[in-house]
Amino acid sequence: MPRPIRASLRLSALRHNLGIARRHAPESRIWAVVKANAYGHGLLRTARALSDADGYALLDLNEAVRLREAGSAKSILLLEGIFQPADLEQVDRYRLAPALHDLEQIAMFERARLSAPVAVWLKLNTGLNRLGLAGAQVRSAYERLRASGNAASISLMTHFADADGAAGIAEQLARFAEWTKGLPGEVTLANSAAVLRYPAAHADWVRPGIMLYGCSPFTDQSADSLGLRPAMTLASEVIAVQELKPGERVGYGGTFEASRPMRIGVVACGYADGYPRHAPGFNERNTPVVVAGERTHTVGRVSMDMLCVDLSAIPQAGVGSTVILWGEGLPADEVAASAGTVSYELLCALAARVPQVEVE
Ligand SMILES: Cc1ncc(COP(=O)(O)O)c(C=O)c1O
Repeated sequence: MPRPIRASLRLSALRHNLGIARRHAPESRIWAVVKANAYGHGLLRTARALSDADGYALLDLNEAVRLREAGSAKSILLLEGIFQPADLEQVDRYRLAPALHDLEQIAMFERARLSAPVAVWLKLNTGLNRLGLAGAQVRSAYERLRASGNAASISLMTHFADADGAAGIAEQLARFAEWTKGLPGEVTLANSAAVLRYPAAHADWVRPGIMLYGCSPFTDQSADSLGLRPAMTLASEVIAVQELKPGERVGYGGTFEASRPMRIGVVACGYADGYPRHAPGFNERNTPVVVAGERTHTVGRVSMDMLCVDLSAIPQAGVGSTVILWGEGLPADEVAASAGTVSYELLCALAARVPQVEVE
């Protein structure tokens, strides 16, 4: 018998969430962002489930090649472009669309001997200060790409720093408009937050990621209120029960002390499965879990293969009871917030050792 932990991937939720993105940005084409193994959901299965998208965006060249070799003929955008000249052989062979974000990439692209021109996306740094050209570089870079003869089309993109937060997108949007004034080409700007909140940023293509997986990009708006459905459910079972007397402690370091008689369930899920070790398990600050359909919380430190939960108010729960760590019945966003992180990190961190099952 394998350990009872498993991740269920609900394909209909992926499709449903893509439909929500479509409804918000009906005039735009959609790249489903499937980087990081589709945010932990499995690249090929996710791409298959999201076959109504107009293309896929990711950053690992090997993942892009896997997608092509699996038969997808759709546009594939490489969000970080190329890392070395040899990457352009793959770009050429597999007809990938690289983002080009600095002058070195542009020089590589100029020198490439492609069998036929490919679509490229010039990435501008309008304020995130991660990747992208500065305003003063944009026009000469554009001209170099045009003159290279290697670009089938030159399109324009940027990425927002705070589409989900208080700063919003106005400043970056204004900078983008100023820097690209009069330059022909398609435009892509919007991540999930901008898809949901800023129609002015929808442009030709949108790039939703997290919303497709059923999580909210916002801290002040739940996925459910946005109509999103969780695609990944991480579930396990109680494998042992402990009765604690007041003053007894739980887990490594004894960080949780029972102040009353307690029933503790030991769950087959730990940080080696991708559950965050820093998820708190104290009386006053803990992390939600659902056991036998009832909401409770973690107690003590998360260890490599196990974590503990309070069963005191769930007398019907015992060995074999189902435990939902996140997903259907317990939003990953809530678990992430308790653990001081974001759902993106939980989903991407799902460990390879966790068996995955597809459900319709
Ligand atoms: C360039 C780019 N576009 C789009 C996305 C998708 O963002 P989100 O998952 O917030 O929708 C990302 C993710 O980080 C990204 O790096």
